[in-house]
Amino acid sequence: MIGKAMQDALNEQIKHEMGSMYLYLSMSAYFNAEGMDGMAHWMRMQAMEEEIHAMKFFDHIKDRDGRVILQALEQPKSEWASPLDAFKAAYEHEQFITGKINDLVKLSREENDNAAFSMLQWFVEEQVEEEASVSKVIQMLKLAGDNGYALLMIDKELSMRQPPAATQQPAEGGE
Ligand code: FEO
Repeated sequence: MIGKAMQDALNEQIKHEMGSMYLYLSMSAYFNAEGMDGMAHWMRMQAMEEEIHAMKFFDHIKDRDGRVILQALEQPKSEWASPLDAFKAAYEHEQFITGKINDLVKLSREENDNAAFSMLQWFVEEQVEEEASVSKVIQMLKLAGDNGYALLMIDKELSMRQPPAATQQPAEGGE
């Protein structure tokens, strides 16, 4: 069974992951409104990924006979100054999440919670990928600057992002 301190911390992390989902969905809506449908698609895929992250924490608590308590989400920002501004905000947000994961790893060590520690290693690696993928887009947007043609080419490339793998698998207990 999961300890109270770790259960509370993981419930808090569900809120952060769902908050990430909400933020990226808001960015997706912003890009749709700006006519950048590829960037909107990229953010929508990112939002789906965040829901998967939240559910990993949800399932970890559930599988260890803990109790999931969902918390209220804040209204996310809805406007950004430019695509670069939005992706920079996404990068800063991922750094915030990386900090949260590191805090959870520290707590799992303090609590001698090997199950949580092991589960969290997936997130440690995932955060490296999360930061790298946003950073790559920022680099491209910086190179494009105000060049409309270059921005459209980036938009086209980001439209190719595939849905996260977990969403393509059959549901638990399904055929
Ligand atoms: Fe779930 Fe993007 O961190």
